[in-house]
Amino acid sequence: MHARISGTGHYLPRQRLTNHDLEQRVDTSDQWIRDRTGIAERRIAGADETVVTMSVPAAKAALAAAGLHAQDLDMIVLATTSADKAFPSAACELQHALGVTDIPAFDVGAACAGFMFAMSIADQYIRNRQAKHILVVGADVLARLCNPNDRNTIVLFGDGAGAMVLSASEEPGVHSTHLHSAGEFSELLGAGHVNAFNAAASDDDAWLYMKGSEVFKVAVNKLSELVADTLAHNQVSQAELDWLIPHQANRRIIQATAKKLNMSLEQVVLTLEYTGNTSAASVPIALDVAIRDGRIQRGHKLLLEAFGGGFAWGSALVTY
Ligand code: ACO
Repeated sequence: MHARISGTGHYLPRQRLTNHDLEQRVDTSDQWIRDRTGIAERRIAGADETVVTMSVPAAKAALAAAGLHAQDLDMIVLATTSADKAFPSAACELQHALGVTDIPAFDVGAACAGFMFAMSIADQYIRNRQAKHILVVGADVLARLCNPNDRNTIVLFGDGAGAMVLSASEEPGVHSTHLHSAGEFSELLGAGHVNAFNAAASDDDAWLYMKGSEVFKVAVNKLSELVADTLAHNQVSQAELDWLIPHQANRRIIQATAKKLNMSLEQVVLTLEYTGNTSAASVPIALDVAIRDGRIQRGHKLLLEAFGGGFAWGSALVTY
């Protein structure tokens, strides 16, 4: 049995934050941000928006695209590291909002790589015939975790949600998923030392911290190894790939991965120019955008990959 993508959806908050807006807040420039990252603007969740409220429309769009009702689902896996509560999980709240009961629903935390981890878990359940339809969501509000005075981070992150329904199928589907973690890099990227959980933390400890250029170097190396391993594992050549759907952190990291795959940027789905880095939501948002605008067609071979805090990184080779 294989897991096949039966539907996708996404949601972006209405509020736009452009590079020019950021020029008014911190010492930065539109040119610097575009040159170093490829980002021109990002969407910011409103005061009444959360991981759960953003996940609902993304999930409904994915279910509608799959021709399914929420009641058809056997499981909900939601990748996030910015839910507004420690518990109940965002997945349980999403389950309730979708009007479903009595199916397992849980969150997965692997920062920007979270969606790859959630998708891998869902794939295992379907392969093992323990589930027929699983809703996989990636949603984050990391812009909220950035210190508004820190030009190193606020230029990078935006908010959003992306969703995918994986369904049991005789045809592949997801060929393989590959996950990695390396906790020794935890000092380079992290967020949310929240006082409620950690009596020793100060208010400043709660903000997202990042040693950008060091993260950049490890990301390029690990993603290059990851995409090569993913293709080799499946005995698929670079030329057989139709699309790369990368995590949207930085255009230069994406270019390095595409170069490794001998792919032109025409075969790479890029949304970061107008979404920024939406963390766990970035891969499913990019995937849904390219499915809905007709670039990705049934039968195309896709390589999905993401890298983020932990460090954690992962990939999936998929026939759409
Ligand atoms: N505007 C203007 N100047 C800036 C800004 C800014 N917004 N931010 C930093 N600078 C300055 C720095 O202070 C530094 O100045 P200095 O030389 O006087 O010290 C200079 O620009 C260069 O800084 P670098 O950090 O070396 O710049 P770099 O080319 O590495 O680009 C960036 C920075 C964009 C952050 C890049 O390193 C990057 O994208 N890193 C990876 C981010 C990432 O992938 N994160 C992983 C996912 S996130 C997650 O998991 C939650």
